Amino acid sequence: MIQPIAFRDNTLRLLDQRLLPAHEEWLELAEPQQVIEAIRDLVVRGAPAIGVTAAYGLVLGAGQLPDSRPEFDEGFAELCARMAVARPTAVNLAWAVRRMRALVTATPEASVSGLRVMLLDEARAMQVADVEANRALGHHGAKLLGDEVTVLTHCNAGALATAGYGTALGVVRAAVELGKSVSVLADETRPYLQGARLTAWELHRDGIPCTVITDNMSGHMMQTGAVDAVVVGADRIAANGDVANKIGTYMVAVLAREHGIPFYVAAPTSTIDLELSTGDEIPIEERDGEEVLVIGEERMAPLGVSAAYPAFDITPARLVTAIITETGVAIAPYEESLRVRCAAATGG
Ligand code: MRU
Repeated sequence: MIQPIAFRDNTLRLLDQRLLPAHEEWLELAEPQQVIEAIRDLVVRGAPAIGVTAAYGLVLGAGQLPDSRPEFDEGFAELCARMAVARPTAVNLAWAVRRMRALVTATPEASVSGLRVMLLDEARAMQVADVEANRALGHHGAKLLGDEVTVLTHCNAGALATAGYGTALGVVRAAVELGKSVSVLADETRPYLQGARLTAWELHRDGIPCTVITDNMSGHMMQTGAVDAVVVGADRIAANGDVANKIGTYMVAVLAREHGIPFYVAAPTSTIDLELSTGDEIPIEERDGEEVLVIGEERMAPLGVSAAYPAFDITPARLVTAIITETGVAIAPYEESLRVRCAAATGG
């Protein structure tokens, strides 16, 4: 199983997801600004993966700041503010930055060299904990699937979107580990093609059967009985269970409800934002419409025509059968069950 983020010798190595599946190239980053740009430009993407990446970006930044405390604190706060807004929708980014910053503000007596060690340890701990959370949620989710199933997924919520193992694809991997026969229908996920390029790449690599469909085929597949369950990831989940995920997820959830197919969301508790009461408050990233108009080098629409590109949508909680977290499975009413899942994660 691929792990898309590595940190050694004060260098962050990221598998360049823009180039998959044609090229497997790793970028080596030593500057925090390069990390901000890598998140913004989708070198690394997926909610948990950008959180862990940001944490390492702050480690790089900490290494370059002055050795005296007031100056270090000021520079670190400014870097955290810039890192946290590299992308707006996935809450894991702000969550990871907040955790790193809290370490600094909670230890005013520590030396800067001591802080640098603590920050690196914290980033490493987040990376390890993410893989553990994905394995745990994967095993909770796998129990919800039958022994022989076809799972439809949207976007890439796999090892590539996390520190490893994946969330939605973590459920698939865990089901395979339990001896279940699982095949995946991967929505291609226009315009960045996370499904066709990334989900298909990592499943194929691991020998898990995967069939790519274009985004407009999922209704037909459900209507003809080809889908047993939908499992997707999330970028942010509001306290009432509304789910922000890759654009097109909402459409899939409506279709699943129409056809009586369970719609599961798999996400670690770090993706749950209890501070937002509903999905209406989740900021939706708007990306450059040019990314919709062009595939590779090829322009799909006449020059001069514009395109819209909201990168995420909100699936209302009423369409969500269950939310699978590392501490267990939450079902409606989500106000109650998500609080319980989050409290369990922090030992509360
Ligand atoms: O724009 P992306 O590729 O970062 O969007 C990713 C998704 O929407 C994923 O489904 C989500 O982050 C969950 S990843 C485990």
